[in-house]
Amino acid sequence: MKSLVVYDSVFGNTEELARAVAGVLASGGVVAMKRPEEASAADLSGVELLVVGSPTRAFRPTPATMAFIKQLAPDALRRVRVAAFDTRIDVEKIDNRFLSLMVKTFGYAAKPIAKALRKKGGSAAAEPAGFSVADKEGPLVEGERERAEEWARTLMPS
Ligand SMILES: Cc1cc2nc3c(=O)[nH]c(=O)nc-3n(C[C@H](O)[C@H](O)[C@H](O)COP(=O)(O)O)c2cc1C
Repeated sequence: MKSLVVYDSVFGNTEELARAVAGVLASGGVVAMKRPEEASAADLSGVELLVVGSPTRAFRPTPATMAFIKQLAPDALRRVRVAAFDTRIDVEKIDNRFLSLMVKTFGYAAKPIAKALRKKGGSAAAEPAGFSVADKEGPLVEGERERAEEWARTLMPS
């Protein structure tokens, strides 16, 4: 299976998970990794699984992540299985009622990524997934890397 992992990351946490996901997928075939600014439709040639990861910033994926998906043709992902993940700050850990309410209302990055991927014809390989960082710059909460690897294993065809 040929896979492509497109990931954005400001402080390195999403990148760490993207590498962990790619490591798992590599046991089932060829994996390429790209930042969204560097990825294009040409990178999708022969790709059966596309995984897109982004930090959640202001309740959304990064602009570069969405720009990558947006520039794809409407049916670019017609034969591609797709999956989305994000990194985020766990709402239970936010000590600010207003922000906590905002997060509950507007959510995180993975769902809008998954929706945009499906809009381009992709079929969901898994539910969108979120992984927690302890603070803005990280580190990842303990166990999240392993949970991401577990999630990645569910993306592999059985
Ligand atoms: C400007 C800014 C906005 C952020 N907005 C959110 C948010 O809306 N929801 C959330 O859960 N985390 C938010 N965060 C925390 C990020 O999700 C966190 O920095 C990110 O997961 C770290 O991933 P990275 O190391 O790959 O950049 C924000 C962080 C920054 C710096």
